[in-house]
Amino acid sequence: MKRQVTIAVLAALAAATTGAHADVVGDAKAGQGKVAACIGCHGIADYRTAYPEVYRVPKLGGQNARYLETALQAYKKGGRKFQTMHANAVSLSDQDIADIAAYYSAQTPATPNNPNK
Ligand code: HEC
Repeated sequence: MKRQVTIAVLAALAAATTGAHADVVGDAKAGQGKVAACIGCHGIADYRTAYPEVYRVPKLGGQNARYLETALQAYKKGGRKFQTMHANAVSLSDQDIADIAAYYSAQTPATPNNPNK
């Protein structure tokens, strides 16, 4: 009995932490078309940034998809504060975020530049 309660509590916790976007599956191909606004800062080629003298912009290519999703959700909802990233994330849907995370996580140094640049 106690064991069943423990399992139920763990299941509820798992459901709570994965949140409403748990059933959203990212599509890297769709994500490619949704990052035009991000490329200027988060340049992918050689992992260099467009404006290194202004920002130290984190590398997104090759980063874990779940991490990217969590970061974007946090910027969107205000849990992680950075004004320009809030402005960029606030209009993204859960599907957009999943697609963008899938896109960036699939990048390698050999990935060609995004043609939407
Ligand atoms: C004006 C420049 C700029 C633009 C445009 C921009 N970002 Fe960012 N982004 C930053 C900076 C600077 C940070 C680091 C902020 C911080 O310290 O939290 C960041 C952080 C992030 C992070 C967290 C990375 C990490 O390692 O924790 C993600 C994910 C991200 N951006 C995704 C995006 C996406 C997706 C877009 C387009 C929809 C975008 N950004 C557009 C400048 C930008």
